[in-house]
Amino acid sequence: MPKIIFMSADSKERKEIDAPVGLSVLEIAHKHDIDLEGACEGSLACSTCHVMVDPEFFDMLPEPKEEEEDMLDLAWGLTHTSRLGCQIIMTEELDGLIVRLPAATRNMMVDK
Ligand code: FES
Repeated sequence: MPKIIFMSADSKERKEIDAPVGLSVLEIAHKHDIDLEGACEGSLACSTCHVMVDPEFFDMLPEPKEEEEDMLDLAWGLTHTSRLGCQIIMTEELDGLIVRLPAATRNMMVDK
């Protein structure tokens, strides 16, 4: 199964987890208690699922839809490799995908 690596903004925290093909980065984050909000649950009506994709993987992703671009414009800490986590769907090719969470001061891994 492909893997995904979530990093905190300061790169101090790193969590590698299984990423089933067909699930979005947001869905995978939620299954593993990664602190990625996703307030609208993937309906492109918020920007709280904003992640920064590692440049190595950014070009492998399909182009964002216009709705995604519009929402990203509202995201805090936008970068040129920013995407919405609910719109990144895992594939075999994305094995090892690295995404960074935007908020430097937030603890991204909440152990429950
Ligand atoms: S969860 Fe709202 S746009 Fe991704």
